[in-house]
Amino acid sequence: MFDTMTLTKAVGAVCGSLLVFLLASWASTSLYSVGHGDGHGEEVAQAYSIDTGAEEAPAATDEPAVDFATLLASADASAGETQFRKCSACHKLDGTDGVGPHLNGVVDRAKASVAGFAYSEALTGMAGDTWTPENIASFIENPKGYAPGTKMAFAGLPKPEDRANLVAYLASVP
Ligand code: HEC
Repeated sequence: MFDTMTLTKAVGAVCGSLLVFLLASWASTSLYSVGHGDGHGEEVAQAYSIDTGAEEAPAATDEPAVDFATLLASADASAGETQFRKCSACHKLDGTDGVGPHLNGVVDRAKASVAGFAYSEALTGMAGDTWTPENIASFIENPKGYAPGTKMAFAGLPKPEDRANLVAYLASVP
């Protein structure tokens, strides 16, 4: 059986911890409350809101915001010239071939049509088709995805703007 002393200690312990909780919650409200007043029930104005884009979300968010033709219409060929540095290790624009075929006039050129260049079967299998701006963009976004088995060892240009600028540059080279 409990004697009075044990009971008193137990009750004391419970009260003690309640007091600690009360103090802690009082301390936290006064420490972390923003603005004037006692910080209770007061509406705190947000300094800024993080835009989650939730309101303006039309269903198809995985669609590219702008289609390629629109990007290409406002593309910057001189920015594309800078992007071409990623290609120039393998592609030349002076009519001669390197690791890859020359890219003079490649926009709207027939695929795998440079005479004397040893294309992979991935590209010769596409001969008869054309390098439209869209096709070039899809190819350089993900060469191995667009033409599985291609020997073009290039990881891909992830940014749509970079691809549009690059195609605009290629189109400007005769
Ligand atoms: C590491 C070397 C390398 C790099 C870098 C590279 N290419 Fe290529 N490219 C090739 C090779 C090799 C081929 C031939 C592919 C085949 O036969 O499968 C090719 C083929 C192509 C073709 C098809 C040409 C045709 O006549 O059918 C295009 C277009 C092209 N590359 C564009 C680019 C662009 C644009 C870049 C830069 C973003 C680039 N490549 C970067 C090596 C490269």
